[in-house]
Amino acid sequence: MSARNRIPQHVAIIMDGNGRWAERHGLDRNEGHVRGVEPIRTVVRTAVRHGIGCLTLYAFSTENWGRPAAEVGALMELFCRCAASEMPELRDQGVRVRIIGDRSRFSAEVRENLEALERDTTRGARLTLVLALDYSSRAELVGAARRLAREAAAGRLDPETIDERRFADALWTAGLPDPDLVIRTSGEQRLSNFLLWQASYAELCFTEVLWPDFTEADFEHALDEYARRDRRFGRVGTPEECERRDEEK
Ligand code: FPP
Repeated sequence: MSARNRIPQHVAIIMDGNGRWAERHGLDRNEGHVRGVEPIRTVVRTAVRHGIGCLTLYAFSTENWGRPAAEVGALMELFCRCAASEMPELRDQGVRVRIIGDRSRFSAEVRENLEALERDTTRGARLTLVLALDYSSRAELVGAARRLAREAAAGRLDPETIDERRFADALWTAGLPDPDLVIRTSGEQRLSNFLLWQASYAELCFTEVLWPDFTEADFEHALDEYARRDRRFGRVGTPEECERRDEEK
């Protein structure tokens, strides 16, 4: 597998800066979230066009419940509205939606809309669009540990058989490839409790652009940067040497 000129199999994006974008334009923060929908359409279309198999978007962190009730309410409404309005185009493009996170805290209405989106896009085979909603990586890891411990305590699982594969299968992201590239907008340079296990070897790309301004060119730029990175996964040598060694195994 060559590490150069490669399209990532899985791109994950921390969509940040909606609030600052709105403030800079003298608008309500919620308008920033509304304006954040168009770049989502753009990255989905671009991902499909490039043959990226999986795109994960951090849309609502568990910490986001701590925002003012009016902002949380506006976000919930936006999720409901978009789940319905975007469904036809997502289906046309061959997109399958999958939700990760603790969906139990959403209202029945939000949950039903999101689950309908998952259900009605199951045939999408070109791109898996993963929406991280009420997502916390630490909560995901604790949940996985608890599930495995419960299985072991019930005598259905030998603790000695727990390896990385088995553990990954207990995460919300079970069955998905690890992200190759994580992009964060708005100039912040941290992961903020996002895919901490899964992004262990991901390339990180940070841009100053605020999410509502994120364009196809910005996405392409991140993909180009990814293609130029040398990914060695702890090995030594040029990507070509690593590749050759892998093939010899
Ligand atoms: C971060 O910006 C963004 C969010 C918390 C919400 C992301 C939601 C969308 C892009 C809207 C639509 C989503 C879907 C899935 C339909 P921020 O508010 O933290 O920005 P700030 O750091 O400038 O305050």
